[in-house]
Amino acid sequence: MSESFDAPTLIIAKRDGHRLPDAGIDWLIEAYTAGRVAEEQMSALLMAIYLRGMDAAETVRWTAAMIDSGERFDFSGLRRDGAPLTTVDKHSTGGVGDKITLPLVAVVAACGAAVPSASGRGLGHTGGTLDKLESIAGFDVTISGARLAEQLSTVGAAVFAAGQLAPADAKLYALRDITGTVDSLPLIASSVMSKKLAEGTQGLVLDVKVGTGAFMKDLDDARELAARMIALGTAHGVPTRALLTDMSTPLGCTVGNAIEVAESLDVLAGGGPADVVDLTVRLAAEMLALAGIDGIDPAQTLRDGTAMDRFTAMVAAQGGDLGVPLPMGACTETLTADRGGIMGDIDAMAVAQAAWRLGAGRAKPGERVQHGAGVRIHRRPGEPVAAGQTLFTLYTDTAERLAPALAELDGGFGVADTPPVPRPLIIEASP
Ligand code: URA
Repeated sequence: MSESFDAPTLIIAKRDGHRLPDAGIDWLIEAYTAGRVAEEQMSALLMAIYLRGMDAAETVRWTAAMIDSGERFDFSGLRRDGAPLTTVDKHSTGGVGDKITLPLVAVVAACGAAVPSASGRGLGHTGGTLDKLESIAGFDVTISGARLAEQLSTVGAAVFAAGQLAPADAKLYALRDITGTVDSLPLIASSVMSKKLAEGTQGLVLDVKVGTGAFMKDLDDARELAARMIALGTAHGVPTRALLTDMSTPLGCTVGNAIEVAESLDVLAGGGPADVVDLTVRLAAEMLALAGIDGIDPAQTLRDGTAMDRFTAMVAAQGGDLGVPLPMGACTETLTADRGGIMGDIDAMAVAQAAWRLGAGRAKPGERVQHGAGVRIHRRPGEPVAAGQTLFTLYTDTAERLAPALAELDGGFGVADTPPVPRPLIIEASP
């Protein structure tokens, strides 16, 4: 590859609002992945992109360069019992209490598709599927291409670290997390789509989050993000559709790591909070439609235990032991209602920050998360509340984290005389 580019020139070009040249993008991503562009330089460029943006064509090229930075899996020959097996996946743009991947991969596998789900760790205030799954004793998120193909054809689902898929994303993801450059539309679009196109899925459903707890706070921005990602999928021959869903309030009653795994197991056992169940079933229906599987009700797999069977098989295949109790923070604090009434809106960002302060997320790259840290929500918006009733329980292994976490919740919810205005969970589907 030509070395006729240099990082300072590209940084200055973007800083001054110019388009990055295609060959310059190719050079930059390759050189950064190989360690020839310094982290300081990439940090400056990310901030310039954050402030100046990238147009659709730049984003396409940036994404292609990220895919080319590593391996690309191909599951077109995947079979089970001699019959072809279709792969399909979903990716969320990041939410609070968003444990949907856990029940969803099992539901879709139980319906007859295979789900190769390359997932991420916590990013910004949002939780990471890998951090959640690693709270199961022994669960291993690293997997080779050959083992993945084997697991997909036997179990039908795998959730794993991207590893050599789009390694440029792994570096950029970690750098964005500590440089205030996460919530950039082209950077989110390229990050999500590079991993998902490299993982070899034959169809993709995107859950684009909108609201206070999402990276996109505004519906029009979320629509634009969805459109860009769908265009990227289509350009790479992967049928892609999107749901825009509400992320103003946390999903379900738990935010953290192990605590979200426990709630996912409730859903897989046929219970769990209605919003988690509804979104799981709706996303599963979208995925099955893309996989060309009809005549199966995904909700039935939660009632009849077949989704739970797939989940336990996936956990076992990846070395996990669900017989070991999930960790729960040893230090707890509760927040109680100072009046009776009806629970109002719960701000997803306030709960996310509380969970982060408790140790569920990272303050520095590479830091270990506390698997037992998190927040339990006892009263959801619209539910009746009695004075003195527990509204939230906080869990951590570090007692001094409790006070700052409680402070984050201050002002993040209210108890009123009238119910909050109901908000649809699924706002719209991509055209
Ligand atoms: N998920 C990703 O994989 N990347 C982002 O940038 C945001 C959410």
